[in-house]
Amino acid sequence: MTTIKISKYLSQAGIASRRKAETLVQQGLISVNGKVVTNVAVRIDPAGDKIEFSGKPVAVGKHVYYLLNKPVGYTCTVSDAHAEKLITALTPRVPKVWPVGRLDKYTSGLILLTNDGDLTQRLTHPRYRVEKEYRVRTNYPLSNSDIGRIAGGVRLDDGYVKPDEFEKTGPDTYRIIIHSGAKHVVRRLIEHVGKSVVQLERIRIGGLCLENLAPGKWRPLDANEIKKLSQPGARN
Ligand code: URA
Repeated sequence: MTTIKISKYLSQAGIASRRKAETLVQQGLISVNGKVVTNVAVRIDPAGDKIEFSGKPVAVGKHVYYLLNKPVGYTCTVSDAHAEKLITALTPRVPKVWPVGRLDKYTSGLILLTNDGDLTQRLTHPRYRVEKEYRVRTNYPLSNSDIGRIAGGVRLDDGYVKPDEFEKTGPDTYRIIIHSGAKHVVRRLIEHVGKSVVQLERIRIGGLCLENLAPGKWRPLDANEIKKLSQPGARN
């Protein structure tokens, strides 16, 4: 009998990422063969045990992966009563998918949606150091000293961030390559030197580029492209 951790099973079934699945277990929402389990160390036999989430059977099905060009104005969550527009409205409703990481409401570009909890964990955990590349436009041009300060690394409230690359591409446009997935990280780096972001677009994650997908459009990813996500990428 091969057993796996309950959180791994739940994430493979597309219920949530592994970390979120552990929270569901701790909250007493998961049962194994009719008994609620709250210990995240519990292992189950996918072939023989009956797993339920809030009383509904959980089965490992097929994973889906969508690459979306997020338009400005959409919020990156599955549900938010205050959000006007959710990105999940732009992709198929079934099976249920969630965004891998986040882009701010006013940031556009490449975002992945999936029901694969393992992949979500791999791409969002800082330990895996997946590169993200952005195009940025600022309200005023940055001076050489501003550029040097950002490129050299900045201590933000929640930690030190050093871009892998930060370079000028036009009078007020820049390319930034960064591993950090911290909230509003690019905006905060620019604000650190007294300027602000007026346009921000993500154009690459790992080895996968946005290319020419129109804003609001999505396409499925094939197995090869999924592999590329966690590989180092070529600069755009
Ligand atoms: N940095 C930001 O400031 N916003 C994003 O959406 C992504 C990175």
